Amino acid sequence: MVVTNICAGCHGSGALNSPKIGDAGAWAPRIGQGFDTLVKNAINGIRSMPPRGGGADLTDKEVARAVAFLANKAGGKFTEPPLDK
Ligand code: HEC
Repeated sequence: MVVTNICAGCHGSGALNSPKIGDAGAWAPRIGQGFDTLVKNAINGIRSMPPRGGGADLTDKEVARAVAFLANKAGGKFTEPPLDK
């Protein structure tokens, strides 16, 4: 799974000052930016977060699903976009 294999590498422990999985306080201001902004920043990278979390072969949709998963673990209410068939 994308989150476990890639995103948790940093977000699991809060490495590089990343917002930790399940840390509502750290995620709240980020969630407040809205889903589209979060996805765009996750795809393009933001400060010490590399584009796609370093998962260069991830599709935009895979990244968007992982963003929804991470944010929702910390109080977000986003809908994971369905995977293409
Ligand atoms: C190499 C470490 C690393 C990996 C791997 C990583 N991230 Fe991050 N991520 C960060 C850091 C550091 C930040 C905080 C960046 C900042 O705001 O300074 C961050 C921030 C974010 C944010 C908030 C962006 C914003 O606009 O505030 C989202 C969403 C995010 N990551 C999603 C993901 C997803 C999805 C994955 C897996 C595909 C992932 N990250 C993998 C380090 C990582």
